Amino acid sequence: MDKILISQEQIKQRIKELGVQINRDYQGKELVVVGVLTGAFMFTADLLREIKVPIERLEFISISSYGHSTESSGNIRVYLDLKKDIENKHVLLIEDIVDTGLTIHHLMELFEGRKPATIKLASLLYKPSREKYKINIDYLGFTIDNHFVYGYGLDLFGKCRQIPHIAIYSGDIKE
Ligand code: PRP
Repeated sequence: MDKILISQEQIKQRIKELGVQINRDYQGKELVVVGVLTGAFMFTADLLREIKVPIERLEFISISSYGHSTESSGNIRVYLDLKKDIENKHVLLIEDIVDTGLTIHHLMELFEGRKPATIKLASLLYKPSREKYKINIDYLGFTIDNHFVYGYGLDLFGKCRQIPHIAIYSGDIKE
């Protein structure tokens, strides 16, 4: 049985706190929320329930990033893009984990080119030991050590996303 790193109760409590911060920061504004598929689907759903400021729309994006090239094109593949543009909008990006930072680095670059009024990032997890790109996480759930984690939206070799807590995989790492 894999160890529970962060319980359902801890996640719930932390999300409430993040909600308070978000509601305070966005007072008088309207948000466009963008969940990054697939890992962030559960966090997005739960965090949204704590957001009391108006949400103009909820969108999802599905991307894959690769390589460490600093070129702004050619290193992010968009499988599913936003339906509408984000120009002059207050965008809140929601991720499940910032690991090396590569994905968010490229996604931020892509989005900044679309000229939003503001763009902020919420991430449930952050693994500083793996950091390759310095990412500013505006709303961070938990900083974690370099464990192989899954559950609460994060997959274990494609499976186990439905587990309601964050667990540490204790088996062999094999793809
Ligand atoms: C995971 C996670 C982040 C990214 C973080 O996505 O959801 O998007 O990796 O890693 P990085 O900081 O090193 O870029 P993954 O590509 O595994 O896809 P998934 O969300 O569909 O599981």
